[in-house]
Amino acid sequence: MSQPEPGFPGPRRVGFAAALRGELRVPSDKSIAHRALLFNALASGDAEVTVRRPGADVRSTAGAIEAMGAIESETADEHGGVLYRLRGWEGSATALGKGIEQLDCGNSGTTMRLLSGALAGGAGRGSTLVGDASLSRRPMERVAGPLRAMGADVTTTDGHAPVTIRGTHPLHAIRYQLPVASAQVLGAIALAALAADGTTTIESPGPTRDHTERLLAWLGASVRRDGLTTTIDGPAALRARSLVVPGDISSAAAWLVAAALHPDAELRLVDVSLNPSRLAIVDVLRDMGADIRIEAPEASAASPDAGPEPSGDLVVRGGNRLRAISLSGARVAELIDELPLLAVAMGAAEGTSELRDASELRVKESDRIALVVRNLAAIGANAEELPDGWRVTAGPALPAEIETAGDHRIAIAFAVAALSGIAGGVTIGDPTCVDVSYPAFWDDLEAVAGRERAVAPAR
Ligand code: S3P
Repeated sequence: MSQPEPGFPGPRRVGFAAALRGELRVPSDKSIAHRALLFNALASGDAEVTVRRPGADVRSTAGAIEAMGAIESETADEHGGVLYRLRGWEGSATALGKGIEQLDCGNSGTTMRLLSGALAGGAGRGSTLVGDASLSRRPMERVAGPLRAMGADVTTTDGHAPVTIRGTHPLHAIRYQLPVASAQVLGAIALAALAADGTTTIESPGPTRDHTERLLAWLGASVRRDGLTTTIDGPAALRARSLVVPGDISSAAAWLVAAALHPDAELRLVDVSLNPSRLAIVDVLRDMGADIRIEAPEASAASPDAGPEPSGDLVVRGGNRLRAISLSGARVAELIDELPLLAVAMGAAEGTSELRDASELRVKESDRIALVVRNLAAIGANAEELPDGWRVTAGPALPAEIETAGDHRIAIAFAVAALSGIAGGVTIGDPTCVDVSYPAFWDDLEAVAGRERAVAPAR
């Protein structure tokens, strides 16, 4: 076997935390950060976007728009935050004027899908969007199809990346029924709609996060969401505006679950996005019996820097035995990124839990249904794979080597399982995969976990 490269961190072992206490500022919300950067790049004027400890996905979006000339400078602060100074392209029509041939989206589906929509109405020669092995397996026709219906010139490679987009101007408005509730697909169509003549209407089969609508409206576009319908009037010009992106509730969720499951825990997560379309994780954990408090400042006292996104603190206390839960239907899309963590909570709960209607999990950064079930079984839970979800009952906390397939959310979920004693200690072979969303995850773990023990106490 070859030797690890110098500096390669090697496998990470995680044990049971003696206690979980403290205060954390999780990274800025990934979904908001992608949009704050890209939408300001499409706007006219200058803006400063501050992103706390950006992960590789957000850096993929920043890298792509930097390659196209919209980032003037990037300044790091001493807490790992990055201030991006942007000079907008003054509308997507000029975005392809520079003729950038290849844009690397790394592991980030949001980067590839939103960029496809942004570039579809451009005026240049065309760009090819490429990604890593995981992103290259994910479906891209779900974006290319509606963009073509708007008159765009988009080619996928057997339905996947590389995706080539040659700008067409103007596009035409459409009425489109999304086959799956996807904020990424909705966002791509909405961006193309800014360069289209007329009103584009997008109908979703279920609720999705509404960051696209909030941010586009805040930057001056005429965008409305009414129930499951979003309408965008085109052509529209955006005006650049500065914002500080609040923390990511999907990253905070790691600590909500870890503390909720731990017998001796109290954590405060400071300045987290409290967008209602992302709060289902708090509701579900509370339904399971977790003690979580939301401390939102009065609207008048909220930071004006956070733009159109509400934010506040989350405080979680451990010690309660959680109850099983069944999740299905529309709620699933609102929890999509938190489901691996919820699987761990289900693996600790009293009774049998079930997840249905979640086949989207099979086309995320990995097949998250297969991986969650295999890893739950490895740590001793009784886990059954269903075509569109899983069924889980608690079992003995066993030590296990976690199979992550390089998926950040799987690594984080099963590190949490070990910290809170649901697993009897785990080994994560590729701990740096957390960099995609949460580069400082292991530092934060050490900051709140204190001493870890290899073996969890009997539950
Ligand atoms: C995202 C939407 C979700 C989510 C992803 C980020 C976004 O994907 O899983 O991590 O920023 O729009 P879908 O809406 O496509 O399921």
